[in-house]
Formats: sequence, structure tokens, C-alpha cells
Amino acid sequence: MNFYILTLFPDMVSQGLNTSIIGRAAGRGLLSIRTVNIRDYAFNKHQSVDDYPYGGGAGMLMQAEPVYLAYEAAAAEIRTRRQECGEQEKKPRVVYLSPQGAVFNQNMAEELAKEKDLIFLCGHYEGIDERVLEEIVTDQVSIGDYVLTGGELPAMVMVDTISRLVPGVLHNDVSAESESFQDNLLEHPQYSRPEVWHGKRVPEVLLSGHHANILKWKREQSILRTKERRPDLLERCALTEQEKAWIEEM
Ligand code: ADE
Repeated sequence: MNFYILTLFPDMVSQGLNTSIIGRAAGRGLLSIRTVNIRDYAFNKHQSVDDYPYGGGAGMLMQAEPVYLAYEAAAAEIRTRRQECGEQEKKPRVVYLSPQGAVFNQNMAEELAKEKDLIFLCGHYEGIDERVLEEIVTDQVSIGDYVLTGGELPAMVMVDTISRLVPGVLHNDVSAESESFQDNLLEHPQYSRPEVWHGKRVPEVLLSGHHANILKWKREQSILRTKERRPDLLERCALTEQEKAWIEEM
């Protein structure tokens, strides 16, 4: 999977994503994470990329042209790679990080993980000239209902979430499948050695070796947790009639 991040702060993004699991996956060639510095495409001698908004208003706006040229640089690389691999020409998806976008979730991550190339556009100041957004952006995404100073952290959140869905990144594909938000349920609690810690025992069923009982316990714990912590998710979860009756009784 190839990520391109258009940003005014390439070091922030590379340093943040070059560590741990994602950095190792990039080192193994499973992911490629490229930053494109929008400032490299400034068209004046001061290398400024912002200007005052027409009609007045607070702050500065990122101008259309440097953003467009940075996008073109990434898109050209993608075109070349697709041609070399004999793949069909197709306009890449461009995600603009904005508090006005659709709120990011696991389903969206799964859908985006099917793409081979993704471009992320990080805004700063008071935003970006609308005309370039109209021309290049395919998806506007927010990571939550709060306002950050720029799109870099949201882009990093998205790249991390999508990357761990790429086969091989986690080493163990089961762990990406049996975790929180799978089927709209939160994950059950987990325990490791020792059996007793601070006087607290690991639930007996987990030590029993009885596979069917363990699976039943995990499912019940997931349902219970979701009911307690995220009742909004439980409404979208496919429960059996028996499970629905069980939860009603609680
Ligand atoms: N830029 C500023 N705030 C943001 C948010 N909540 N999500 C995505 N991009 C942003």
C-alpha cells in the first residue's frame, strides 16, 4: 500500500510514522509512506503558500496552486507506477483532513485499505482555497468533533489505522479480525500471567482449556462491555435472538 501525504510539516509525519509496527512494515516493503512538502511548490521567492481570504475574515488560507502542484507530483508518481505494473489508469483517492468531513471509523478504514494508493492532504491556517479542493479531493474526513491546528495528526491516525489492516503488517491476521469494532462489538477483556495479581484471579473459564466455553465467555463479555460502554454500537450489532433475550434480562 502506498501512502502520499501532502503537508507543510513533512518531518512531523515521517517521524511519527517511522517508528514501531508501521515503521517496521515500511522497512519490510509492505507499506510506502511518502511525504510531499507543499512548500516546495510555492511559486514566489519567499516560499509562502498562504494569503488573505477574499471577503475578509480571520487568518490566512493555503493557496490553490502549491497544493495542486504537490498533488500533481504525487499523482504523477502513482500514474507511472500503475503503468509500470500494467494496472488500469485511475484517479487516486485524495483524502482531505477536515473537521467538516465524515467522521472516521473502522468501516471507513476497511474500505480505504482496499486501495493501492492513497493521497492525504493536510490543511493549515484557516483552511485551503475551495477551488483546489473541488478539483482534487475525493473524500473529506474528520477524526472527531474537535478542531486541531492542522491535518497532520489526523492523517497519521488514518495511516496507522489503515496500515494495520494491510495483510502482513500485524504478522498475525487474526488479531486484526478479533478486536474492537469487529461486528460493532468491543473486544472482551484479556489476561496474561500470573494467574493471580494483586489478589485478582484470571477468570476460571480461561484456564479451563474448554474451547467452546471460552468462545462463549468472550462473546458474552464483548456484548456486556459494548452495552455498558458503547450502547450506540450495540444497536448496529447482529445479535442472535438468544443473545438479545439474554441482554434484555440483565
Ligand atoms: N483538521 C483540524 N481538525 C481536524 C479534525 N478533527 N479532523 C480532521 N482534520 C482536522
